[in-house]
Formats: sequence, structure tokens, C-alpha cells
Amino acid sequence: MTPVGRAPAVRLRGASLSFGPRRLWSGLDLDIAPGEFFAVLGPNGSGKTSFLKALLGIVPLTEGTVELAGRPAGRRGGGIGYIPQQRAFSPDTPLRARDLVGLGIDGHRWGIRTRRRAVEARIEALLATVGATDYAKVPVGRLSGGEQQRLRVAQAIADSPEVLLCDEPLLSLDLNHQQAVSRLIDAQRREHDAAVVFVTHEINPILDYVDRVLYLADGRFRVGRPEDVMTTEVLSDLYGSRVEVSRVNGRIVVVGLPDATTHHHEPLHHDHGKEPV
Ligand SMILES: Nc1ncnc2c1ncn2[C@@H]1O[C@H](COP(=O)(O)OP(=O)(O)OP(=O)(O)O)[C@@H](O)[C@H]1O
Ligand SMILES: [Mg+2]
Repeated sequence: MTPVGRAPAVRLRGASLSFGPRRLWSGLDLDIAPGEFFAVLGPNGSGKTSFLKALLGIVPLTEGTVELAGRPAGRRGGGIGYIPQQRAFSPDTPLRARDLVGLGIDGHRWGIRTRRRAVEARIEALLATVGATDYAKVPVGRLSGGEQQRLRVAQAIADSPEVLLCDEPLLSLDLNHQQAVSRLIDAQRREHDAAVVFVTHEINPILDYVDRVLYLADGRFRVGRPEDVMTTEVLSDLYGSRVEVSRVNGRIVVVGLPDATTHHHEPLHHDHGKEPV
């Protein structure tokens, strides 16, 4: 998968993660190539966020090793964009929308003379890309959840990272913006050969872009192409109970997820196919 001579964007060997007696996953060997769109799926509490945090070195692996952008996890260096799982900004956060996006830009890369103008122009371009120009000067705490989320995306791609880690970036976005943000993230990997690791409960908005899926459930996992992992056999085996997967109008519909793992973060969209029923 990885072209000869190029380090994988993400490299895990014998990786395990447990919290106390609870094992989230173990025996994970994985290379994610530059330019690959890699989705992480699984029910609540299966370890998706912890997976990203392990890549970042925020959470130490219980066993094994991890490298991100060619460096051991946690080693300082640029080239990594991260969209954390959504938390609302407090209403009195004293940052404007454009300040938030500007925090994603390392102005030093442009040199002192051009820095200010170049940074301003880059901020304008990013705000326009995520459709946030109209609220550029509004304090972020006063924006809606979806507006805040679009700014987080702009901030994470601001420096054109080589690895982009996204934790449910489509959360609280309407269908229109789900598609726009998915396209934007996909464009990053195409134009900059960035690897994208994309945690989501909804594979359908990104189905056209995804190369491989890591599906976590119940302390186990499967890795493969969506058509090989998102099947009745594989998901039934992972969940240990009968789960039906079918394709309707090119969308993946999963029926019969165990109650405890059924998950609705987002409102249902009728034209939008898959939600666990
Ligand atoms: N630092 C920690 N210490 C102890 N337990 C933790 C810690 N971080 C996460 N956990 C537990 O590990 C499990 C996995 O958490 P994680 O946040 O990775 O799940 P998730 O798959 O992202 O879920 P969601 O879909 O709800 O975001 C949860 O049961 C959580 O309570
Ligand atoms: Mg999570």
C-alpha cells in the first residue's frame, strides 16, 4: 500500500489499549499510507477517540508501538491536524471565529515581512472555504454547534497537515455541510497527499472517499475495505449477535445493532439512508 521509500503516515505494531481491566483493542498492526482516507467506526465507548489519542501520544498504549508522520507518537513536530470530538465553546470565550482559525496557522513559515498579510489572506481563504465569512468576527461561544464545528475544520486544515485526525467532524452539521466538510477533507488528502483518519458513526457521507475502515466493537476489530468490513457476516461476528447490512441506493443500511450500542448523535435525514434502526 505504501509507496517504496515513503514512511507510512500512521504505523502501529502490536498495539493494545486497555483502561484497567477493560481492553479496547489489542494486537493491532496497521499502516496508513499518505493519501489514504481511513475511517474508524464502532459503537459508543468502543475506543475510537482513544485510538486517535493513542496516535497523538495523549494516551499511552498498553502494549506495542505507534508512529505518526514518521515520528514516535507524542514527539513534537508539525504536520498533524486534529479535530477533537466536539465540545461547545463556553458562551464567553473571548475569541472571534477568525482568531480561532488563525490559531491553526504557523505564521513563522512565511517569514517576518510577509507574515502578517499572508496569514490574513490564508485566514480569509479558510473562512470562505468552510462558509464562515459571514460570522468571521463573531465570538465563537455565540455561534451554533455546526458553525463552531466548521471553524474547527478550518483550523485543523490551516497548515495543510500531512496527517489529519478527525473525531466525528460531521457532528451537528446539516446534510449540506456534512457533504461540504467531507469534500473539503477529501480535497486535503488529494491535493496534499495527506492521510485522513476519520472517526464517524455514519459511513454514508464519506462512502465515496473511504479507502479502508477500522471497525471496533466489544474489544475486537476488523480492518479492510468498506465492502469487506460492512457486511452482515463481519458485523454479526464482531457484535456477537445478528446484524443485517444491506445496500439501498448505494448507501449502507445497518439493522439490528444491539441496543446498548445503538447511537444517535445526529437527527435522521430521510434522504440519507443508513442509520441503525
Ligand atoms: N483516560 C481514561 N481512563 C479510563 N477510561 C477511559 C479513559 N479514556 C476513555 N476511557 C474509557 O474507554 C472507553 C472508550 O472511550 P472512547 O472515548 O475512546 O470511546 P468512543 O469510541 O470514542 O465513544 P463515543 O462514540 O461515545 O465517542 C470508554 O468506556 C471510556 O469511558
Ligand atoms: Mg469518541
